[in-house]
Amino acid sequence: MKPGHSLMKHYLQFKDLRAEEYAYLFERTRIIKTRFKNYERYTPLVDRTLAMIFEKASTRTRVSFEAGMYQMGGSVVHLTTGDSQMGRSEPIEDSARVISRMVDLVLIRTYEHAKIARFAAHSRVPVINGLTNEFHPCQILADLFTFIEHRAAGASALDCLRGKVVAWVGDGNNMANTWLQAAEVLGFTVHVSTPGGYGVDPKVAGISSADCYKVFDDPLEACRGAHLVTTDVWTSMGYEAENETRMKAFADWCVDAEMMAAAAPDALFMHCLPAHRGEEVTAEVIDGPQSVVWDEAENRMHVQKGLMEYLLLGRIG
Ligand code: CP
Ligand code: NVA
Repeated sequence: MKPGHSLMKHYLQFKDLRAEEYAYLFERTRIIKTRFKNYERYTPLVDRTLAMIFEKASTRTRVSFEAGMYQMGGSVVHLTTGDSQMGRSEPIEDSARVISRMVDLVLIRTYEHAKIARFAAHSRVPVINGLTNEFHPCQILADLFTFIEHRAAGASALDCLRGKVVAWVGDGNNMANTWLQAAEVLGFTVHVSTPGGYGVDPKVAGISSADCYKVFDDPLEACRGAHLVTTDVWTSMGYEAENETRMKAFADWCVDAEMMAAAAPDALFMHCLPAHRGEEVTAEVIDGPQSVVWDEAENRMHVQKGLMEYLLLGRIG
């Protein structure tokens, strides 16, 4: 980190930052995105290096972090378990000690959250969660920025989110858990509808009370009046062995036109992608006028540029 920059922060869960830090990040993202769209050079991370460690597949996370880091003047090192000593049982603590002496930031996509927490505990530099079984904070950061871009209409970012209803239809997975944390930090409500046995667990989600969400057996009821309807794959990475059982259990948790019609008239649809049309969402909805999934994907890059700037340089100006 920059000499003189105060305490080192990791970004492992959404709740690692406070509401006022999110307000700052949303504003920085807006500025950074505008500069990029205007072809204005902005390279505050010259000579800085990001190590990206992937234990699971990725398209968006890899491209958005890699392109974003280069655009800011830095460089990246890409590692997978298969092509590093981490795949040959080098202790995660030792990997963290070594890698973090050579780079300025580390991004990790892995399985159990405990693994990234162990890495972070032994890292000299900030660690960013690029998805674990339990959380996907960078995605929700992008989703919230996308919502604000489409719906703030002059209001502040935090006012735009406060009091809103987000309908979560599908698996009680890493995305759902992160939505709950975001609701608790930023003051909105999540309507959660999952098949029996796939619900969210507040302990796993890491929220302090159940006030930020309501559970609905019927996904249509969860969508009623919602300002945002969102879903994700029925089978997340690492759970492929359960795919057949899940296909049956989730059959009624497909976001369709009827659910969108039950939501608020100007409701947005989001999906972190990759999507399976005909499973968790119909083609009509994901390719329809309320869907903002391509903005959502693009915004991964812009919010993460704001995040990397914040973790390395602190507040600008
Ligand atoms: N949404 C998301 O994280 O996509 P990738 O798995 O392609 O990185
Ligand atoms: N819940 C999904 C998200 C993919 C970006 C998974 O973990 O596979």
